[in-house]
Formats: sequence, structure tokens, C-alpha cells
Amino acid sequence: MIKIGIIGVGTVGTSVANILKDNADVISARAGRDIVVKSGVVKNLNKDRGLDIKITDNVDDILDDDEIDIVVELMGGVDEAFVVVKKALQNGKAVVTANKALLAYHRYELQEIAQDIAFEFEASVAGGIPIICALRDGLSANHIESIVGIMNGTCNYMMTEMTNNGVSYDAILQEAQYLGYAEADPTFDVGGYDAAHKLLILASIAYGIDAKPEDILIEGIENVSSEDIAFAKEFGYAIKLLAIAKKDKNEVELRVHAALIKQDEMIAKIDGVMNGVSVVGDKVGETLYYGAGAGGDATASAVVANIIDIVRSGKSTPMLGFNRPMEGDKLTLKPSEKIESKYYLRINVNDEAGVLAKLSKLFENNSISIETMLQRPSENSSANLLISTHIAVEKNVKNLINEIERLVFVNGRPAMIRII
Ligand code: NDP
Ligand code: HSE
Repeated sequence: MIKIGIIGVGTVGTSVANILKDNADVISARAGRDIVVKSGVVKNLNKDRGLDIKITDNVDDILDDDEIDIVVELMGGVDEAFVVVKKALQNGKAVVTANKALLAYHRYELQEIAQDIAFEFEASVAGGIPIICALRDGLSANHIESIVGIMNGTCNYMMTEMTNNGVSYDAILQEAQYLGYAEADPTFDVGGYDAAHKLLILASIAYGIDAKPEDILIEGIENVSSEDIAFAKEFGYAIKLLAIAKKDKNEVELRVHAALIKQDEMIAKIDGVMNGVSVVGDKVGETLYYGAGAGGDATASAVVANIIDIVRSGKSTPMLGFNRPMEGDKLTLKPSEKIESKYYLRINVNDEAGVLAKLSKLFENNSISIETMLQRPSENSSANLLISTHIAVEKNVKNLINEIERLVFVNGRPAMIRII
């Protein structure tokens, strides 16, 4: 019999304990051993978890318990979780985690510490979708050309409800929290950091690249207004928070931001808490993965799969999937100002003579070519200018926006969303 200790018996931890019990028949058949949860660790001992396992508030009750074979870290956070996971590995225990924030900062150190001890993290990216397994094992023969995905269930749920049902930002964020989708601090979700953590994990597996969240372009959905959502819908676009990794010769571009996507694109149709990831390999071509990106049971499904795998086959791969230095030593991160994209801009202006001439001069000065332009009346005799550009360079677009914001006939900072 294999004994598990769960550190963090919250949304996901509770589901892990329940799945191990509810599906014990198939789990033990697949693992070849019975798997039971011996104990769990929480902060607040007074909360009822509805589980018949020993609950404690001392992590060492699990870390120092010789009977426990596998430690499942589901407490979240970076620093404390790092200490806990490090000790578990040093005590010779296999570790399974869903903690992408921890991995975004410490994946290479943990790989070093783990050495031959199993360390698995399938649930850390895209919840229930086995994307780590697909990328690390199924696509290991390929050079990875790109990874583009919706990797935050909370944001996708929010954008879907705001677009389809006109629900307010605050109300729908609260609901995502209630449903167990959001991080303990939901600014990680809406600020794009959670998706960035996931992107960095995938980029390590795909490219061996060792970047931190601070190194890449991260924008969330906080500045996507209901006005822009309505215009996007009217013109046949959906707005999604995308995480993008793209290889271009010796550079890798890593970025997270909201994007306008044509409604007939497959990725634009991924709604609600669902996640979708497209991975393009040089030999396999495009592959697509779709499923629930957050929520207790979906996430726990991936955690339990890792547990079964460890029991069944021990350690089969190095944690990040490469045994010798990979492309990472040849690849560099593309600076975010060099990124190229099409852009949507909404500029609120006083509706008066000469405005368009002055604006178009600024576009020309910044080498930005306008693809389409439309004027819509707005409040107090102002107008919204809705502009889409041809492919432009990020640095030039940011400069243009700064210059436009300073014009006397412009009201507020122009809204900008990249078009994919
Ligand atoms: P919760 O906040 O629901 O659960 C966290 C649990 O950890 C709680 O039981 C909490 O105790 C316990 N805990 C927190 N800090 C400590 C501490 N210092 N000592 C002891 N116990 C502690 O989080 P989730 O279950 O939602 O998430 C867990 C992990 O899984 C996170 O890393 C998250 O990013 C990741 N994840 C979550 C997904 C989701 O859909 N929810 C999806 C994919 C990954 P108490 O209950 O007493 O507060
Ligand atoms: N908060 C995360 C999300 C959980 O909404 O996607 C899954 O990683």
C-alpha cells in the first residue's frame, strides 16, 4: 500500500482525497497498488473538510513521517512551498504539485534537488489537460515552433460571461472565486501572472529556457473595458487572454496579454473555464489540447494521474524532460519591444476639425500603417476612433500611444489590444 500526505487540503486537495477514494478501483488497478491518503495539512484546524483523514497544521507531521511515500503539495505560494517541497525531496519522498507559481521561480533548482526522486506537476498547467505529458513525452521528437493557449480558466470564464451575458467584471470575478477557479490572490489571474507562470513552465520543457516572470511581457484583463468587448463582438472578434511562446531563429518570444481573435478561429470558441493549447512541432505540425483549466476535480484528476504514474513506474523522465542541455543554451529571449503584431486602438477624441490629420501624422512618424478606421459617436460630443493596424513593432505602438495621449483633443489613454 502506498501512503500519501497532502499539504493543503483546500479546493484541489479535498478533490484529490475524494478521487483517490471514489475511484479506488480503477486507480489501484492502474497503479498495481492500493493508494491511501494518510494525512493532510491545513492552516485552519477548525474548518470541516468532510474527509476521514488525519488533519494537522504541522507540515513536519507529513515531511518526517517515514510511512508517507508521496507528498502532494497543494498549499500554493512560492517561498513556504519551496521550503516544504525541498524538504520532502531531501527526505526521499516523491512529490506531486499543482503549484505553478512555485515552478515559475524554482523549477530548475527543484530539478537539481530532485535528481532521481520523482517530481511531477501535470496540474500546474491548464488544470485537467495533460499538456505537460503531451509536450514532454508525446512531442519529444520535435523542435517546438510555437505554443499558443488559453491557460487561465478564471479569465476565460470572466471574459466569456462579460461578452455573452454582459455580467460585470466584479460580479463575475467573485463567482470565479466561489467556484474555486481563482488563485488565493485573484490578481494573479486577472493580472496575467498565473498564465505567465504556466507559460514559463511549458517554455522550459519546449526550449530549456530559464526565464522568470519579470523577464517577459505580462498584461492581464483588468484594462479590457466593456466598450472594447462590445466593439469586438460587433466586428466578429472574441477577446481572450492568451499565453504565447514562439521560436524565431535564435530567439524565443514569451508573452501574455489579451488578444482579439476572429470568432471563427478554433481558439476563439473556447469558452467558460475551459482551456485550450495549440502546440506546433516541426515534425508533427499543429496539435490541439482542450479541457477544464481549473476547478477542484479537473485539477485533482491531473494530480492523481501523476500519483498513479509514480506508483506504476517510479521516475521515468527528468522533471523538465531533458537529460543534456537543450536549445536553451543557444536561444535568447526576444525583448518585448521587438514583438510584432497587428493592433486594435480605441482613441476617444473631441469630434472636431483636424483631428484625423494630426493623428495620422503620428502613425506615419512611428512607421505604423493603418488597416481600417471607423468613427463612432460617444458621450459629450466626443467620438471613439476604432483603428486596426497592419503588422507593427511593439516599441513603436507604445510610443505612438504615449504621443496620442498627450494631444489636447484626446480624452484619456487610448485602449490597445493586440490582434492575433
Ligand atoms: P486553496 O486556497 O483552496 O487551498 C490551499 C490549502 O492550503 C488550504 O487547505 C490551506 O489551509 C492550506 N494552506 C495554505 N497555506 C498553508 C500553510 N502555510 N500551512 C498549512 N496549510 C496551508 O487552493 P487551491 O486548492 O485552489 O490551490 C492549491 C494549489 O493548486 C495552488 O498552488 C494553485 O495554484 C494550484 N491550482 C489550483 C487550481 C484550481 O482550480 N483551484 C488549478 C490548478 C492549480 P486552510 O484551508 O486552512 O486555509
Ligand atoms: N486560477 C487558475 C485558473 C487555476 O483560473 O486557471 C488553474 O491553474
